[in-house]
Amino acid sequence: MRNVTQQNISDVVIAALSADIPARNREILTSLIRHIHSFCIEAKITHAELIAACQFLVRAGHISDDARNEFILLSDILGVEVLVDMLDHKVTDGESESTVLGPFYRENPPVLPKGASIIQKHFEGSQTVRVNGTIRDTAGRPISGVIIDVWEDAPNGLYEQQDPEQPDYNLRGRFMTDANGEYSFVGIRPAPYPIPYDGAAGELLNYMGHHPWRPGHIHFMIQKDGYQGLVSQIYDADTQYLDNDSVFAVKESLIGKMNQTPAGSDTDLVMQFDFKLKPLAGQTAIAAE
Ligand code: BEZ
Ligand code: FE
Repeated sequence: MRNVTQQNISDVVIAALSADIPARNREILTSLIRHIHSFCIEAKITHAELIAACQFLVRAGHISDDARNEFILLSDILGVEVLVDMLDHKVTDGESESTVLGPFYRENPPVLPKGASIIQKHFEGSQTVRVNGTIRDTAGRPISGVIIDVWEDAPNGLYEQQDPEQPDYNLRGRFMTDANGEYSFVGIRPAPYPIPYDGAAGELLNYMGHHPWRPGHIHFMIQKDGYQGLVSQIYDADTQYLDNDSVFAVKESLIGKMNQTPAGSDTDLVMQFDFKLKPLAGQTAIAAE
């Protein structure tokens, strides 16, 4: 096609897709091409703006490495990660809601016994919280042997891998539910923190006139053979930014209350938070007796 016009350009580019590509490639590219062309037309993108966007993506690439993925942050700031997570994990049977993984998960956290603390370093003025809960299937039966990875930021707003002053794997742990489907651990009341804004993510936030802050939360990754895995976060009901999270990841069902404990308790606060997992189709789920 030699006579490419504004009217036919999408069809022309789509027609250039090889007949041999997988059906999913075709589906993704057809939609992407149509939407990106419509976007350029609707927003009247100039050549200077296109070049500026390409240079912005180069800066995002330069600041990314194995420990930092600026592109995930960009997708978070635009609400894309949370949208894709909602599409991937539609709630169908009353199972707990998922939310974004974020960039700070680390594999193989310390394996700890039920009730143990994930705190390796004391922070002056921080409040300790015991988090207890039961993991059940969607029929309400407790599930034993569920693996639960938890991670949270320190009171200075930094995850341990962002902060050379914190011990390796501070505020991370892997727990397992007992025969009654119960888990328990001790952490710190999670502090609100700004997502990293010293790179392209910060540039995008400035362009949007938006702030980088996230409400205080504890991350959970919950896995058990025969059940749909759950990546989620629980939010402190009394934290700031519940209504204006910079990455749009808060869900009402994930907000939990941290209550003061009676005098003599081993933590300042206690929170109960239960989860429900959905059995995988075609599997006979084995719940705890
Ligand atoms: C987090 O919760 O750790 C997070 C999520 C999205 C972007 C940045 C951080
Ligand atoms: Fe986080």
